[in-house]
Amino acid sequence: MNLKEKINLDKLPRHVAIIMDGNGRWAKKHGKPRVFGHKNGVTAVRETTEAAAELGVEYLTLYAFSTENWSRPQFEVNALMTLLVETVRRELDTLNKNNIRLQAIGDLKKLPAKTHKALLDGIEKTKNNTRMTLVLALNYSARWEIINAVQELATKAADQTIKPEDINEEMFANALSTKGIPDPELLIRTSNEQRISNFLLWQISYAELYFTPLFWPEFRKEHFHEAIIDFQNRERRFGKTSEQIS
Ligand code: FPP
Repeated sequence: MNLKEKINLDKLPRHVAIIMDGNGRWAKKHGKPRVFGHKNGVTAVRETTEAAAELGVEYLTLYAFSTENWSRPQFEVNALMTLLVETVRRELDTLNKNNIRLQAIGDLKKLPAKTHKALLDGIEKTKNNTRMTLVLALNYSARWEIINAVQELATKAADQTIKPEDINEEMFANALSTKGIPDPELLIRTSNEQRISNFLLWQISYAELYFTPLFWPEFRKEHFHEAIIDFQNRERRFGKTSEQIS
């Protein structure tokens, strides 16, 4: 029985989020520049997107560029931005053929104009697709997102559109950039780092965390399947006892 057949399709996580890490170290291991790692990371993005869609996962969120990533060497930042434009443009037909909708979270207005434009174009041209939503986190930081939400709600409270005591989890979640997207149930991080790095802090409250030593450019469909099987073997209790959930 291959790995995929071990997956219970009735117990899939609706939303999987991934911190794609280790492109630079993978390139170094092969004696190549860091950008070579990012380019090969695109193959892993394609494989993972296909694997998630084939299984029936509804949302896949990929951490592609954090707010902190701007402090990398200018050359690397430029290369990443160009790679994003090229990838979004090149994969557009495949996304449409596979009925996959593209979305993005983060402070998108601060992206270079070309990247921003390619992204908005991709989002617009795939907006009616229904099989799976691929969310790219770009210039994203969870603390930025939370502060943004607080400002939005504080403004509404100040002009009396809402009362402070009306603020609840649902209202807060609706002020985040992930509005309308269910919380990730599984968070994967590659490259042996066991950190969250300012990613989806509010949304991963109950997510299962899965760490793999593989560098992101090495990540393939079977590794995604392994992560799903691991997720399905865990007992998710949400604060209850084992007896209460069985
Ligand atoms: C982390 O590796 C990777 C990134 C910051 C960028 C991820 C981008 C891609 C995979 C390419 C394009 C993506 C899409 C969605 C089209 P790192 O550079 O932090 O590696 P290191 O920790 O080994 O230095």
